Amino acid sequence: MPGNSFGKLLRVTTFGESHGAAVGAVIDGVPAGLPLDSSDIQYELSFRRPGHHLVSPRREEDKVEILSGVFNGRTTGAPIAIIVRNTDVDSSYYEELKFTPRPGHADLPYIIRYGFENWDYRGGGRASGRETVARVAAGAIAKKLLAALDVWIAGCVRSIGDVEVADDVGFEDALHSRCSPVRSCSKKYEAAFISVIESAVREGDSYGAIVEVFVKNPPAGLGEPVFDKIKADLAKAIMSIPGAVGFEIGLGFRYARAKGSVVMDEIVIQNSRVGWRYNYSGGVLGGITTGEPIVMRCAFKPTSSIKKPQKTVDMRTLEERTIVVKGRHDPCIGVRAVAVVEAMTALVIADHAMRSGFLPLVKIPSDMVSTISSRWRWYRGVCMDMEESQ
Ligand SMILES: Cc1cc2nc3c(=O)[nH]c(=O)nc-3n(C[C@H](O)[C@H](O)[C@H](O)COP(=O)(O)O)c2cc1C
Repeated sequence: MPGNSFGKLLRVTTFGESHGAAVGAVIDGVPAGLPLDSSDIQYELSFRRPGHHLVSPRREEDKVEILSGVFNGRTTGAPIAIIVRNTDVDSSYYEELKFTPRPGHADLPYIIRYGFENWDYRGGGRASGRETVARVAAGAIAKKLLAALDVWIAGCVRSIGDVEVADDVGFEDALHSRCSPVRSCSKKYEAAFISVIESAVREGDSYGAIVEVFVKNPPAGLGEPVFDKIKADLAKAIMSIPGAVGFEIGLGFRYARAKGSVVMDEIVIQNSRVGWRYNYSGGVLGGITTGEPIVMRCAFKPTSSIKKPQKTVDMRTLEERTIVVKGRHDPCIGVRAVAVVEAMTALVIADHAMRSGFLPLVKIPSDMVSTISSRWRWYRGVCMDMEESQ
């Protein structure tokens, strides 16, 4: 399998390259009856879209077109094909780079694997962050399906460079990070994040970031033993995002430095039900959801394309050369990646919810349709002012 598809019962295939005609997704397995129109997808894409001074200057409208699988405002059970045309494409600069692969990019591995003559060198081609438009579009449908179960996913930026949010944050903070241009987990840290990013822009440099994501109200019992553990599927989904370099769930790497007696996840009665006192495990034990919130973090590397000289090799002469990568780039990938992390999380949770019988496979019953619609109205209301201004 070439690896362009993802998921078992809710299956997504993405297609398209950075400077090709369009990027898009085919989403198969969505049950009939889900109310859906392009504005639902457009809403999610607005949180990934480039176009302000703290992210890539590439100006893409990211206008969604639904080509199939939706009739009279409802899904039909057929595959849903979505495209977003690439409109602000400038490939001229990449001609210069054709023989000098960019450090930190997929260029050289793609040349080795597919051959020079078959490589789309324009803007990173298939490996570009642009491919993630398709993931966010597919994730919007998964999120809407999950509204049936009152399951919600929200992510935010926890750190940029050395600036790290020290306070405890949770789902509500992450949800409201949608109102922040840098997806800050905390209003208190937003200005510091902005100033770090502005310094990167001034210096032609970039910063890494940590994105935190929360799943609210996950049903207990999602996940399949043993290789399709939900933490394994989540890790794979999130680590497949371009630029992702680290994944942790719950205390994650902090567990490795701890003493067992200090990080015991005690089982207690709280709010009249059996639960975990601290949820150190991040909502998953034995690869199965516990019903506690799922909490994950993903590290993103600093953008590789910076305006500083970088060494590479001219593949024609096999001599070392120094290049300065131009083009339009994000000073911090993590900011726009939040929407992608949310989307990948939603796809995994929705797929497992179908596999475990929490969501219907064929048709959504009418009472569930109205529940989805009213809950979705609430969700779309978050940061309404911002949506209108975009
Ligand atoms: C939303 C998003 C935007 C990105 N923007 C850029 C960018 O402007 N410049 C860049 O060098 N990398 C960018 N990346 C990361 C590259 O696509 C990625 O580093 C590259 O394809 C190599 O893959 P790897 O880092 O996963 O090994 C972006 C990633 C995402 C998810």
